[in-house]
Amino acid sequence: MATERTFSILKPDATKRNITGAVNAVIEKAGLRIVGQRRIQMSKAQAEKFYEIHKERPFFGELVEFMTSGPVVVQVLEGENAIARYREVMGATNPAQAAEGTIRKTFSESVGENTVHGSDSAENAKIEIAQFFQDSDIVG
Ligand code: CMP
Repeated sequence: MATERTFSILKPDATKRNITGAVNAVIEKAGLRIVGQRRIQMSKAQAEKFYEIHKERPFFGELVEFMTSGPVVVQVLEGENAIARYREVMGATNPAQAAEGTIRKTFSESVGENTVHGSDSAENAKIEIAQFFQDSDIVG
């Protein structure tokens, strides 16, 4: 197993409900280390770029609107197999299908407002981290 970094977003439903600390506690309990973290207001252009891969999907407009509806917390998480591990900790995209104990099962109300994002591959983790962090802002 290798130490990896993955990119995470605590979405506007998390900042709105003041549960970012509760979500971070689950992340840390799972053995992932928060080595970069910043609270930002995502611009429409940033959200459109970040979710470019979904731009033909029917929910794209709704997704961009939601992600810019309030502050988000962007993070870099580090740990053994961090990419797969974080996806396990987040649970299925649709909270109704997420396993017990996962972030989405515990906190999320819908597939759109599903509290967290995590990179789905090493390649995307690298691209996503680079969109929001400079190397000097990540301290492992
Ligand atoms: P995320 O992992 O951030 O990547 C794409 C996002 O699109 C996903 O989480 C969901 O929040 C969102 N999404 C996926 N399916 C739907 C849907 N049917 N309606 C609204 N949003 C969706």
